[in-house]
Amino acid sequence: MNYSIAIDGPAGAGKSTIAKSIAQKLEFIYVDTGAMYRAIAFYFLRNGIKPEENQKIQECIHEINITIEYEGDVQQVILNDENVTAHLRTEEVGNMASKFATNRDVRLKLVDLQRNIASTKNVIMDGRDIGTYVLPNANLKVYLTASSTERAKRRWLELKNKGIESDINEIEQDIIQRDEQDMNREFAPLRKADDAILLDSSNMTIDEVVNEIIELYRKGL
Ligand code: C5P
Repeated sequence: MNYSIAIDGPAGAGKSTIAKSIAQKLEFIYVDTGAMYRAIAFYFLRNGIKPEENQKIQECIHEINITIEYEGDVQQVILNDENVTAHLRTEEVGNMASKFATNRDVRLKLVDLQRNIASTKNVIMDGRDIGTYVLPNANLKVYLTASSTERAKRRWLELKNKGIESDINEIEQDIIQRDEQDMNREFAPLRKADDAILLDSSNMTIDEVVNEIIELYRKGL
């Protein structure tokens, strides 16, 4: 039997950093589902298709082939034979991903891919709807959150460390807007699954969160 850990939560809560670290320690595969939504958004951006153009999206969704490969333990997203991983982490692509992620056809396509991966491997998968929709029977579910001010601060610092200056208030407004969009969409919105454990990381270090989740995993074995 494969084991699955679902980590959901709002933008910038530290899900991917934490999930990556846990995957390494437990020797699980880390699956970043946000990167898949980002890859779809990247495709539509490149082809001049807008989030509200539902008809066009439905028509061309079949032309999009997304696969996941691993370089060591680092996830690579392949979009129609092209490795697009390096293009996905910008704010623009993140915001567009959130808009396209409201589309049912887009979601169903990616959910299929996510379930396939989890059916053959031990995974720790992070996203917005993993515990509620993608893997409702996940062995362990965590809803990871932090205050929007704290999340903005972390994002600002992350950018600063990369040499990029940004406005912390603008980042917080972006985060709030993205959360609202993700929580209020009709299909598979972001919410805590009833059986997920709530972790607020506002006053916790990354290591503390990682250790807490590993503890929960060991207790559940
Ligand atoms: O987590 P990340 O910021 O990379 O996700 C980008 C966007 O993709 C999110 O704001 C959300 O709208 C969407 N997403 C989603 N469901 C997931 C993962 C991401 O709707 N499972």
